[in-house]
Formats: sequence, C-alpha cells, structure tokens
Amino acid sequence: MKIEKKMKQSSRQWLCRQLNDGFVKQASTAGYRSRAIFKLMEIDDKFALIKNATSIIDLGAAPGSWSQLLAARAAENAKIVALDLLPFAPLDRVHQYVGNFEDMALQSAVAEYLEQKADLILSDMSPSTTGHRQIDHLKIMALVENVLIFACKILQMDGALVIKIFQGGEEKRFASHLKTIFRRVVFFKPQASRNESREIYLVASGFVLGRP
Ligand SMILES: C[S@@+](CC[C@H](N)C(=O)[O-])C[C@H]1O[C@@H](n2cnc3c(N)ncnc32)[C@H](O)[C@@H]1O
Repeated sequence: MKIEKKMKQSSRQWLCRQLNDGFVKQASTAGYRSRAIFKLMEIDDKFALIKNATSIIDLGAAPGSWSQLLAARAAENAKIVALDLLPFAPLDRVHQYVGNFEDMALQSAVAEYLEQKADLILSDMSPSTTGHRQIDHLKIMALVENVLIFACKILQMDGALVIKIFQGGEEKRFASHLKTIFRRVVFFKPQASRNESREIYLVASGFVLGRP
C-alpha cells in the first residue's frame, strides 16, 4: 500500500500546509528552528519587551526558535533560561532545563540560576491535544494559571508576561484576572499565527502585585 494512503487525512493536511506555508519556508531559509519565531518577532516589534530585559524565562521553548530570537535581541548581560519537556540542540547564551514546568523543583532551579527576579516571562507551552476543543482549552487554561502563580513569585515589579492560550471561553476571565496584577493587558494574534488556529497571546506588562 502506498505511504500516502496509510497517512491519516489530518497528517496529509498538516504536511500540505507546511509545504505551502510561507513562514515555514522563510524560517528554514533563515536558519530558524521553527516558524513560531515570527510570532515572537511580531510581539516584540509591537511591545518592545526583549531589549531592556536582563533576566528572561522561555517556557515551552523546544525546538528553540523563540530562544534564538531572545539570544539575538537581548542585551549582552541578559540571562536567558529556556525550559521544555523535550531537549533541544543547545544555543549560545541560553541556559536550558528539560522537564515539566509544573515540577516545583525545576521552578526553584530556574529561580536559583537567575539569582534575581525575572523581568520577562514567555510561555508558548502547548499541552498535548486531545482533539476535543473544550478539553484542550481547559488543559491550557489550567497550565497558564500555574504560569501566573509562578510569575507572581518570580517577576520583578514592572516585569512582563506573554502567554499563549487557546480560545474557548475562559480567556476573558483570565485576562480580567491579569488586569488586577498588570497595568497593561492585551490580546494579540500575530499574523504568523494561523487564522484557523484558536491560539492567541496575552501580553501583560507593568507587573504591580506580588500575589496571583
Ligand atoms: C509550540 S511548542 C513551542 C515552540 C517554541 N516557542 C519555539 O519557538 O521553538 C510548545 C512546547 O511546549 C512544551 N510543553 C508543553 N507542556 C509543557 C510543560 N508542562 N512543561 C514544559 N514544556 C511543555 C512542548 O513540549 C512543546 O515543545
């Protein structure tokens, strides 16, 4: 039987989309590890978060394209930590941790390495999907609630947080909660984020409160 026949329809659609995706081609030509880098480029071009940050945490970092951008744009003295369930090829200037972000020992290790509070936390984490929209939405909302608890412990005053979520109903309540902790909170859908994807980013800056 031909290989294509064996492939599930969804895999064929994914492959077709990848082959025709301008961002995938651009990323590969430029030596970026993933098309996801263009999402962070857009976020940073609009909100200018990276250049003044000296202590940065990249959650859900594999295969490392956001970390590539951080290493390229952050100040020379900036410390950059990347964390993911999966290991990825090392990058200059990026200190990598492999494991589950929800592991408290790992969170402590990150805090210890930084030696100071963070001024920028990015979360592009996507929990494994079930294919059921509402369940996937609730899974990522549970994860981002933990990111917020972590951020409240480790962010310095005026720090910023960028979090990916999948829309599904709970995001407005979460954004309202963020607004009690950060001075500015906006939803941002980068052009590099596929229209059909329910993914959207919350960009929160001006951290003012130490408790979630
Ligand atoms: C969309 S990818 C991130 C792409 C990355 N920003 C880049 O530019 O290369 C999402 C990542 O989140 C990671 N992830 C999901 N849940 C996680 C968790 N609980 N702890 C750590 N990483 C997690 C996955 O392993 C996956 O690599």
